[in-house]
Amino acid sequence: MPSPATPSESPIQPELPPARPTDAPAPAEPVPAVAATAPRVMHPVAVGPWINPANLDTRITWYDVFGNDNPVVVDLGAGDGGFATQMAVKHPEKNFLAVERLLGRARKIARAAEHGHIPNLKVLRLEAGFTVHYLFPAESLETLYLLFPDPWPKRRHWGRRIVQSPFMQHVAAALKVGGIFRFRSDHEDYFQHAVGVLEKEAAYVRLKDEELWPLPQTDFEQEFAKEGRRFYDAAWRRVKLAAH
Ligand SMILES: C[S@@+](CC[C@H](N)C(=O)[O-])C[C@H]1O[C@@H](n2cnc3c(N)ncnc32)[C@H](O)[C@@H]1O
Repeated sequence: MPSPATPSESPIQPELPPARPTDAPAPAEPVPAVAATAPRVMHPVAVGPWINPANLDTRITWYDVFGNDNPVVVDLGAGDGGFATQMAVKHPEKNFLAVERLLGRARKIARAAEHGHIPNLKVLRLEAGFTVHYLFPAESLETLYLLFPDPWPKRRHWGRRIVQSPFMQHVAAALKVGGIFRFRSDHEDYFQHAVGVLEKEAAYVRLKDEELWPLPQTDFEQEFAKEGRRFYDAAWRRVKLAAH
């Protein structure tokens, strides 16, 4: 007859780990398996015509915004969006982004896109310089329009003009090689300032006046035209810089 099992031999007695010396480091906490497998909650970047900046934690992926890989055209400081809206209707084969910092104006653009059923027009309510520098992917834009930007006519405010060398370098980085920057203003002094800034940037070559193509009038332009103001218009092509 087998002898009864001693306590250490008992089949129901769990085997205990060897005692840890008191000065040995504690074992690392096990990582809960759920951390590795929990799905990431994705918030859509574009809801209807709006791009939600809160859901952009990195540069924009145009496909996520428009759902296609069509060329992307930007209207910076779009105002009430008359220009961007007309362009988007005229060119359904392209994607248009209107960037405007004033909420009331951005809302007008969003309404026009929604009510007009214009899926290739989106609105981003954000500061233009930040947007170009931090949110646009490199070499991703076909055209960037800057039409009737605030001219800041007083000399002491000239530093506030958006066209400055760093800004134009960020625009160059965002434009595809061969992409276009188009500038139009009713303010001759600002126009000459812009020409001077762009002349110093090796990434741009100015188009001849006869190469400029007609554009729909912007909202401000319509008002200025009624006053008989003169307009100053120029465009530059982004060129590939020779390797050093
Ligand atoms: C003179 S309006 C021209 C609007 C439009 N481009 C047009 O021609 O009808 C300039 C617009 O740029 C917007 N704006 C000015 N500075 C801006 C900035 N830093 N970021 C975004 N929008 C800006 C203003 O709110 C305004 O709607």
